[in-house]
Amino acid sequence: MKITTKINLLTTAWMLCILMLINFAVYFLFMKTTVNMEENVLFQKAEDILKNYDTNQLSHDGKLKLRDYLTDHSYIRILQPNNKVIYEVTNDQKLSKKIKGKYQNKKTAQTRLISAENGEEEVLIVRVPINNGKNESLEIGERLTGLETRKEILRGILVLCTIIATLLSLLGGRWLSNIIMRPISNMIKTIEEIEQSGVLKKVNTQNKTNDELQIMARTFNRMIDRIQSNMEKQKQFISDASHELKTPLTVIKSYANYLRRHGAENNQMAGEAIQAIHSEATRIQKMTDTFLELSTLEKENVLEMKEVNLIALCKNTLNELKYVYKREITCHSEDDSFIIRADELKIKQVVIILLDNAMKYSNERIEVFLEKNDQSVLICVKDYGIGIPENEMNQIFERFYRVDKARSRETGGTGLGLSIAKSIITQHNGEITINSKEGIGTEVKLLLPRGGRLNE
Ligand SMILES: Nc1ncnc2c1ncn2[C@@H]1O[C@H](COP(=O)(O)OP(=O)(O)OP(=O)(O)O)[C@@H](O)[C@H]1O
Ligand SMILES: [Mg+2]
Repeated sequence: MKITTKINLLTTAWMLCILMLINFAVYFLFMKTTVNMEENVLFQKAEDILKNYDTNQLSHDGKLKLRDYLTDHSYIRILQPNNKVIYEVTNDQKLSKKIKGKYQNKKTAQTRLISAENGEEEVLIVRVPINNGKNESLEIGERLTGLETRKEILRGILVLCTIIATLLSLLGGRWLSNIIMRPISNMIKTIEEIEQSGVLKKVNTQNKTNDELQIMARTFNRMIDRIQSNMEKQKQFISDASHELKTPLTVIKSYANYLRRHGAENNQMAGEAIQAIHSEATRIQKMTDTFLELSTLEKENVLEMKEVNLIALCKNTLNELKYVYKREITCHSEDDSFIIRADELKIKQVVIILLDNAMKYSNERIEVFLEKNDQSVLICVKDYGIGIPENEMNQIFERFYRVDKARSRETGGTGLGLSIAKSIITQHNGEITINSKEGIGTEVKLLLPRGGRLNE
């Protein structure tokens, strides 16, 4: 069963239950108040009779007087304790025959159903004791003829109202559930289209409201955007990576061909070929390592945040690199310790990437500056090397982008270092900026929030 039909039926059934309860309440309250009113009228009548009734001077015209109090289809009696009727006046013989008189020494009211020409009819009887010292009681009975008609009318009205309300509820429920279900139906349609065509699509969200269904549709669209951008990134990465692998593979293949054809005929050429094959293979290996690193970086977005002393981290890294590269690297900072919350290994990786670039693209000294303020710390890696041309500055964070490909081959770069660095710094909610002048030098600045988040 469709969810709209389910909602519709459930709401209508629930409304029907409520209506039934209300109908019963209205019916019984109406009955009770009407009978109560009639009762009060009869009691009032009984009181009036007792006020004017003198049992000691009971005579023929006493009966006549009682007759004045008769209304349509009623009787008035005076009874003794053995239920003996001593006086009775009536204008409805059938009624007085059907209802047997009963002596009561206290005020009571009672309703009874008797059979009438057209079905059953209710009779109201009130009994009041007479305080004349003779143990007598007054009984007045009256057919509630109007009540049956009123009951019928009320029942008719209630049934009609219930039918109209049920119909309206069915129509309203259908309209409402259609409104609620429209975005869901749209989404189902879009998902089915995506499933059939394999092309990612977005759901229509004309409505600018902020209800849960619109939020769901917008979230779905954001998810589609993300999947689309990830798919594009993936495609781009695959085409970039295969393009990058093509050159070293061509070099390897041509040298391998040479060796296959000539063997070690020419020792010098053979040595050169082996050397080239080895260096290109090493380059491919390095490249594939970086690919793996990049993919894990994108998969594992979780940082292992802990307190890190940035000065100690930089100094240790510099010392390790100084030893490997045998270059002069100086570290400038006014303090001995800068504690920040960060993923130590990843920050170290960024520092290494920047120092590696500075080493590759400069021959003079390299300087590292560390500064801090209340909210953030700044690491600046400065070299006095070849610099980056101004028109290339926007692209250097792109994957595989290298300013001078020929020269980068010499230095063994893959063009992934800065893109990895940027991704790590963005994960830390930090910023990475580069200032560079061709022929003068380059300055890379890392701004990191001290608590792990900027602007907190
Ligand atoms: N300090 C620098 N001085 C001059 N040019 C630089 C400097 N740092 C980066 N570049 C330029 O930016 C390009 C991209 O740098 P990136 O670190 O991303 O790649 P790479 O150094 O070529 O390779 P990889 O770091 O992956 O081994 C480099 O090829 C280089 O041309
Ligand atoms: Mg690099």
